[in-house]
Amino acid sequence: MQLSTKHLLGIKELLATDITTILTTATNFKEVLQRPIKKVPSLRDTTIVNLFYENSTRTRISFELAEKRLSADTINFSASGSSVSKGETLLDTVNNILSMKVDMVVMRHSASGAPHFLSKHLPNTAIINAGDGINEHPTQALLDAFSIQEKLGGLSGKKVLLVGDIMHSRVALSNIFLLTKMGAEVMLSGPPTLIPKYISQALGVRVEYDLKKALSWCDVANILRIQLERQNQVLFSSTREYNLAYGISKKLLSSLDKEIVIMHPGPINRGVELDSDVADSGQSIILQQVENGVAIRMAVLYLLAGNRNS
Ligand code: CP
Repeated sequence: MQLSTKHLLGIKELLATDITTILTTATNFKEVLQRPIKKVPSLRDTTIVNLFYENSTRTRISFELAEKRLSADTINFSASGSSVSKGETLLDTVNNILSMKVDMVVMRHSASGAPHFLSKHLPNTAIINAGDGINEHPTQALLDAFSIQEKLGGLSGKKVLLVGDIMHSRVALSNIFLLTKMGAEVMLSGPPTLIPKYISQALGVRVEYDLKKALSWCDVANILRIQLERQNQVLFSSTREYNLAYGISKKLLSSLDKEIVIMHPGPINRGVELDSDVADSGQSIILQQVENGVAIRMAVLYLLAGNRNS
């Protein structure tokens, strides 16, 4: 099984067959992760740098664990504490790291398009986007899809709702690209100020501002974090009022005539977009999403390493 691409820059650039290949490979790696010895020698001769210019808990640990489970050598780089503070450019930093014989780069950056820029300058090094600004977070969408598939038995025809800060969410954009490519139906809900105008026509999704109607429609609701750090103007009155209008509470879910699956990419603003009694309930698969992230990242690294060697 091979991917059609040398890099993972976004879901936008993937074919549906690439997505199926990654999800199938991840199923095999998930089986490896259930074994007493959770390690395979697949990337024994590969060195990977995890280049994080922006904070992360889940993605960073998950990539590092995936690399270790594949027996790769790993280097972890944080912009804070590095020579970036002395003015070194992204390209200089990466070229210096690559001169030490590094094979693959996993990168998170606050600038949308930063991994695409790197891939143009370093065509022979596999670049994996671990989240770029408000653009894409492809491995998050892949682990979300894997988790939906595991819970509901497939993606095609499933009704997936994304709730909240669509405007600033790279998770939303990657999920929309992935789910529509795989035949799922996608609806967006949230305050009109946090949903881009014309997104419905541009990306083939539905928009429903009435949260209860949207929740009644879906099989699964992926609740997004309010990205206060990316908002340079006030787009809703207060987190308290946001919670009252668009927060997911036990009471709201109990008023539906069916039980839906609740997801969240993390980190959660508890009591803002999602109440604790929902986040920690049996309806939520949030920790399964995190668990599945390791298998997905193993699959992506393994398949891209295979492309490098072919
Ligand atoms: N979901 C996600 O990207 O979480 P982190 O920011 O902790 O990596």
